[in-house]
Amino acid sequence: MWLLALALAYLIGSIPTAYVVGRFVYGFDIRKRGSGNVGATNALRTMGTVPGLVVLAVDALKGVIAVWLGQVAGGPWLAAVTALAAIIGHSWSLFLEFQGGKGVATTAGAVLAMAPAVVLWAGLLWLVIVVLSRYVSLGSIIAAAVAPFLMLFFHRPWPYTLFTLVGAALIIYRHRSNIKRLLTGTEHKLGERS
Ligand code: G3P
Repeated sequence: MWLLALALAYLIGSIPTAYVVGRFVYGFDIRKRGSGNVGATNALRTMGTVPGLVVLAVDALKGVIAVWLGQVAGGPWLAAVTALAAIIGHSWSLFLEFQGGKGVATTAGAVLAMAPAVVLWAGLLWLVIVVLSRYVSLGSIIAAAVAPFLMLFFHRPWPYTLFTLVGAALIIYRHRSNIKRLLTGTEHKLGERS
């Protein structure tokens, strides 16, 4: 049962929403445009606001579904692991030769299903940073780093707090190229289309 739930969560996470919209609606490979990331920010950058929001919603839904799947099949510990499997699928997709996105929307969806208040506060922090700096990546990195502390603050179950910690580490790891660009002042700013 655990293995089946994990495999299903990985498959759901693997659905490359930004790639599908780019390829089948706009006729290009998002991996070759903008930052090259298969995610909502790059969809917004290369296709526009509506596709960006659609990608954000579907990628977040993958995280929500993965948590529900784990909760139904086994409880909080399995939900933490299925959520992780979905993020791994999103970042190393079975359908994209193990390429993928950075996991922010899918992690946010999973955390939304585990602790809505944490997404609310981390999301507000993300918004303030993005509005002030116009760097989405900076907002994602800082919000991800703060989320495990919010989990502790709201006394969420340990599996969920540990998941958020591992998810944050993965998000920061996947933002390595963004961190380099932020440090050299060459990171893309929101509103700059490519
Ligand atoms: O969610 C990913 C975002 O933080 C950065 O995306 O395309 O600017 O690398 P991107």
